[in-house]
Amino acid sequence: MRIRAKVNPEGADRRPRLGPVLWQLTRGHRGRFAVAAVAFTVKSSPVWLMPVLVSRIVDLVVAHGTLTQLWIYGGLGVVLLAQNYPLNMLFVRLFSRGTREISFTLRTLLAERMQELSILYYTRSSAAFIQNKLVRDVESVEGFIDSVLPLGLSSVLTLIGAFVATGISEPAFLPILLIAVPIGGALVTATRRPIARGNEKYRNDVELLSSRAGEMASMVNVVRAHGIEEVAVSRLTEAARGVQASGFHLDILIGRFGAVGWIAFQALSLFAVLGGAFIALGGVSGVTAGDIVLLGSYVALLTGSVISLTGLAPVISRGINAMGSIASLLDERDLEPNHGKIEVSDPECRITFADVTYSYSGQIAPAVDGVSMELAPGGLVALVGSSGSGKSTLLNLALGFLRPTAGQVLLDGVNLEHIDRRTFRRFVSVVPQEAVMFRGTIRENVTYGSSGFTEEEIYAALHEANALDFVRQFTDGLDTAVGERGAQLSGGQRQRIALARALIRVPRLLLLDEATSALDSESEALIRESLVRSARSRSTLVIAHRLTTVRAADTILVVENGKIVEHGNHHALLKLRGRYSELYQTQMN
Ligand SMILES: Nc1ncnc2c1ncn2[C@@H]1O[C@H](COP(=O)(O)OP(=O)(O)OP(=O)(O)O)[C@@H](O)[C@H]1O
Ligand SMILES: [Mg+2]
Repeated sequence: MRIRAKVNPEGADRRPRLGPVLWQLTRGHRGRFAVAAVAFTVKSSPVWLMPVLVSRIVDLVVAHGTLTQLWIYGGLGVVLLAQNYPLNMLFVRLFSRGTREISFTLRTLLAERMQELSILYYTRSSAAFIQNKLVRDVESVEGFIDSVLPLGLSSVLTLIGAFVATGISEPAFLPILLIAVPIGGALVTATRRPIARGNEKYRNDVELLSSRAGEMASMVNVVRAHGIEEVAVSRLTEAARGVQASGFHLDILIGRFGAVGWIAFQALSLFAVLGGAFIALGGVSGVTAGDIVLLGSYVALLTGSVISLTGLAPVISRGINAMGSIASLLDERDLEPNHGKIEVSDPECRITFADVTYSYSGQIAPAVDGVSMELAPGGLVALVGSSGSGKSTLLNLALGFLRPTAGQVLLDGVNLEHIDRRTFRRFVSVVPQEAVMFRGTIRENVTYGSSGFTEEEIYAALHEANALDFVRQFTDGLDTAVGERGAQLSGGQRQRIALARALIRVPRLLLLDEATSALDSESEALIRESLVRSARSRSTLVIAHRLTTVRAADTILVVENGKIVEHGNHHALLKLRGRYSELYQTQMN
């Protein structure tokens, strides 16, 4: 085996934290965001400038000004409005490019991290959990950036703009704004809170309904087979009933509090205008009719901004939650430590177990208990034993998916702990106990993970896996779609495709976990023969319940309760008249 040490100063302890990560993500987009902010400020200026213009026009009318002046104001208004379109587009383009790219990078980062997580991490967390992080959480972070930045910026700008404009045109009104705006904001927010709560409840109920619907679809076979359709329907209608009830409740809330909020909002503008009028009538000099119009508009505008800002609260809290959830994955410690380890480039694939013990957390007895064994290059070793005896665990230890609790697994004499297992696994093919297929064609399922296989190679692999006959039966041949998770293939066909996928890579180490369990004895025998024929070109570890499968093995290891209780070839073991011969006799009868 040739090995090359790779120096990686960062080592296995790379722990990204979200704050710095997010800041890093904006790298390359910061200039873009700055220009976007300027464009946004200019494009939204009509919001607080238009009221000023309108108040000036009112004053012009009151003071019987000239038509020229009116034209100038009109022209200004047109310019003010016209600039909105191009600048808005500029803003959207720059901003969206930035945020979308950040989400893309975040998703890539997550996907990479997921590939570094230990296999055990995946046995602990559901697929939906992982999917949620990659899709929903990133979406929430995106939503956070998307709404908080523009909406927050616009509200703050409006607040500042309105106060400054009022301060310039009529400082006497500033106290009215200072009192009215917080009161209005608080009042309207208070009336909206029940609506927000109702909305939340409604959304939760819809989510429950959608998860029940998914569950119903995936369980349909079991449900029908057990004749419990009514139970399934009532589970769904129960959730649908919830949606109906909370939807109705929400409508009523919106009707009630929506109206109250609206009245409060309008009343506030009215009171502000009245207040302004009192100040004007009370003899404060210089207050014009236009100023009062301006005041009315600003109170509405400012209250609106305050409301938007408070409305951002749930988006902000969802965004922060999502960021936390993403950070927890990026920070996850249960990684497969490969960084900076020895890279394998030409392994013989001699696998040695030296007194290996493995205990799953939460299990009292170890699943593998003091096992020593060796798989020689070109050797064929079989594991047999009853269900739950620890065979798959042994295989996962050989693969480096699990790390021994005690003892060592060695690859060509080097502890697997010191090896970058990803480089080792390039020489390994596994057919796991459950053949995994993805939506795609037979060709894609066979060549998965590698490109550049010729048609001949694909056919050769299918031939060796005894899959050629049935593939030829399909009108589309190699390009036959296999359906979601291979649902359009039979169990045995799926196994053979999985086997072809393993063989096409010409592995040096082949690990088969019940790879032919779903096949009839005839097809199984064909595969066995072709595997045995080519067995010397690689190391093979095979797990099988059917003992005919393992007869040709150099060594058969009989596993019971995590221990190897017998070992030897078929004939030696039969002579021993022990556990193996017992199993063999029961199968032969
Ligand atoms: N992810 C896990 N977490 C906790 N315990 C586990 C886990 N996987 C397996 N075990 C336990 O370890 C023991 C050995 O399991 P293993 O899958 O190795 O058995 P096996 O010999 O492959 O069985 P089978 O022939 O049914 O596939 C079992 O008692 C099982 O309950
Ligand atoms: Mg197993």
